[in-house]
Amino acid sequence: MNCILRGVRVIDPLARRDAPGQDVWLSEGRIIAIYKHMGEGSLPVIDLTPASGHAPVILCPGFIDIHTHLREPGDEGAETLHSGSQAAAAGGFTQVVAMANTVPPVDTPERVKEATFRAVAASVQVLTGCALTRGLQGAELVDLEECAAAGAAAFSDDGRNALSPRLLSEAIVRAAPLRRPILVHPEDEELLAQVNNVQGPVNRCSLRPVEAEARAVGYALRALTHAGRGHVHLQHLSAAASVEMVRRAKEEGATVTAEATPHHLSMWLPMATEPDPPALRKVNPPLRTDRDREALVQALRDGVIDCVATDHAPHRVEEKTLPYDDAAPGMIGLELALAVCITLGGMGGDWVPTLVERLTLGPYRVLGPGAGIREPRLRIGEAATCVLFDPEAEWTVEPSHLRSTSQNTPLLGAKLRGRVLMTLVDGALVHHDRQRLPWPVAAPSEPAS
Ligand code: DOR
Repeated sequence: MNCILRGVRVIDPLARRDAPGQDVWLSEGRIIAIYKHMGEGSLPVIDLTPASGHAPVILCPGFIDIHTHLREPGDEGAETLHSGSQAAAAGGFTQVVAMANTVPPVDTPERVKEATFRAVAASVQVLTGCALTRGLQGAELVDLEECAAAGAAAFSDDGRNALSPRLLSEAIVRAAPLRRPILVHPEDEELLAQVNNVQGPVNRCSLRPVEAEARAVGYALRALTHAGRGHVHLQHLSAAASVEMVRRAKEEGATVTAEATPHHLSMWLPMATEPDPPALRKVNPPLRTDRDREALVQALRDGVIDCVATDHAPHRVEEKTLPYDDAAPGMIGLELALAVCITLGGMGGDWVPTLVERLTLGPYRVLGPGAGIREPRLRIGEAATCVLFDPEAEWTVEPSHLRSTSQNTPLLGAKLRGRVLMTLVDGALVHHDRQRLPWPVAAPSEPAS
């Protein structure tokens, strides 16, 4: 790989750089230079200059997803580290945090070490999310100090929220000196059990009112106040009411951050018809009203919501073809996130630079450097970790194109805009759309020439 990409918009939020019409000289996975009107000498040139009236192709640091479910160990039929990281690369993600709700869950220092060791083979950087409580049961905190020392990037019981505000407060206090955020899945399990009239697990229950989220957000914010230090991050907000609570807490100076998923930013829009099977749209928290969607988009734009996170939740076909009430919640997101946010999630057009920030610097700041995450930055001369994407390229979501082992998305067949052309991780080409970026580079599996 030794060429010049001509006519690219370079966005690097950390460097406060947004420069159109740039020429980028790439050589052996490194960005050698970026400037306008580069003389090519003998180098091949790929001219990406947009036609008049069209948006340019964008080069930016690789996306970071702080909320991914890779089902290894325990449910490799749904996803493996390999397939999940290929999907991440195809979506432009170069760093992802894998949630702990595997089988068994990642809830001891040994399991953190195992997960971190296993992740070394992945084509993108996979950071280890550790459970907050043993078995995600909410009764006993994990050994936060030892788990952090073993490599845990963050703590989360995602999928569950069974711990008491008192225990949550203790976790926040203990995670503060470790410089790790506590990631909270804000749905109040007691309220969910009541409204669904069940006594056992509530994660498949389909009635999930806004109050369950608002109550859990309230508990988390009070636990943070009570802790008097530390950092709480609220996962997958889905309701206008909780956005308002976060807005107020931030105004009052609380160290709270929040994320929104592409499906909550968008998914009401293509849902005029029921997907088949209907459980393809089942997700926790659920898809709500257009008013909620607008509040989420507004909050992502103005920074009350700090980042986009996919909550990529692959499930086997058998789990999604069950009757709606029994089916597993969740949908895949890594390969669709960019296009969904651009096409349906209110982040296209002039909002694309903000979207880039919310996919790079935003999640980096949420996790913080203490978590072992790498700074999202385009560095001249170093092995590049970056993504090249075309915000206008149209494509249809076809099962055969998806790298994820599972294909549980209600968007199969949908036409979207926004396509990743190339992803580099530490200089290695981990994804390349040969059709849209026809250039003489080696395939990811071949040695670079
Ligand atoms: O819909 C969801 N699925 N929400 C979650 O929080 C967990 C996830 C999963 O693990 O399948």
